[in-house]
Amino acid sequence: MTDVITAALLPPDRLSPAFRDVLLDRCASGSYGLVADLTTLDDRYAAGAAAAQRHGIRLLCAVKASTHPEVLAGAARAGLGFDVANAFEVAAAREASPSAFLSLTSPGLPFGERAALYEAFRRGEIDRWHCDSLAQLEELARECPGSPVGVRVNLDGLEIPEGMPLWRPSRFGIRLDQLPLARDIAAGYGCSLRWVHAHNGSEENDLASYVFTASAIVSAASAAGLKLASVDLGGGLLSEPADLDPFFSAVRAAVPAGVEVILEPGRFWMTDCMALVTQVLDVKETASQVVLLLDLGLMSHLQWADHIRIPVLGTLVPGDTRPWRICGRSCFEEDWLDEWEPIPVAEGGPLPRPGDPFVLGNITGYAIELACDFNGVHRPAASFLRT
Ligand SMILES: Cc1ncc(COP(=O)(O)O)c(C=O)c1O
Repeated sequence: MTDVITAALLPPDRLSPAFRDVLLDRCASGSYGLVADLTTLDDRYAAGAAAAQRHGIRLLCAVKASTHPEVLAGAARAGLGFDVANAFEVAAAREASPSAFLSLTSPGLPFGERAALYEAFRRGEIDRWHCDSLAQLEELARECPGSPVGVRVNLDGLEIPEGMPLWRPSRFGIRLDQLPLARDIAAGYGCSLRWVHAHNGSEENDLASYVFTASAIVSAASAAGLKLASVDLGGGLLSEPADLDPFFSAVRAAVPAGVEVILEPGRFWMTDCMALVTQVLDVKETASQVVLLLDLGLMSHLQWADHIRIPVLGTLVPGDTRPWRICGRSCFEEDWLDEWEPIPVAEGGPLPRPGDPFVLGNITGYAIELACDFNGVHRPAASFLRT
């Protein structure tokens, strides 16, 4: 363990000064693991909720992105609702708030969960229900006759503008040209198809893809004679909080007034709210690269944690053009962090040594949800605190 704890092995930006101090303390005391800053999270919730209110958008928090009670409680305090996918997530959301708006969109429910969820829907404890297939819609309508109902759609079969990050073909939802069939199935049980949902699955939505999806839904729904009550455009929001106004304004404008617009981001909420404090185990030179081995495993610690913030590293010798590469300690060839995150390098920057603490920023809530103990690389302890 090195004797000098240096701020240089923290990501250079996007950490509040107070959070930076917490992380430096952790480094100094050798308290490794995930550290989440609930103060920053609350600020994001507040900024998101305020922007949504300004533009008449209903904003939800996708429970799958973090089921941590503090994360969900903060969303409820900010007045956000929840996107849920099954009984476990309904229970987690209800634990955070007995009355928050709940929207259920599920690829498919286990048989054992259905009766209680239908009952909750009949009682009005689930506010939206988007079925993923015509068969699911028929079952919902049969179990909850006379109710408004919803479907998830995909954009299969549509002409998509070049470069738009829309995932196709999709295994989720029905095609837009099946909306008339869905309408008739619902009507057969006295139900009306009022809610349409699309999470395009790319998790990289940009404004153009949201607007394109919203417009496609609105025109298909109108062609099918639906009296739309809401359009839910799913998650995948990558905007900065400061840029939400133009974003929400454009999305709102793509849907007629009187039809609710819903967004249900997951990873957006905890962006830059969580860091992983870990340790350098080895630094290994090869002819073509410099390998930094950290005490972590991609699968155990970092799943779905793309856009990680990485400390700047120096070159081993002046003018060294070999790239640094960060890897974990699992026996898995692909346990490379930099497959998607290039490591920033600056001449004269810090050189990590075995034993140094090392902090990776912007770890998502998914990294906890998807964590495992593969290969004895145990999932990290996580602490949630206020700064
Ligand atoms: C239906 C639905 N809504 C919302 C989300 C949240 O997506 P993200 O975390 O990319 O914002 C997901 C993610 O898989 C999803 O499947």
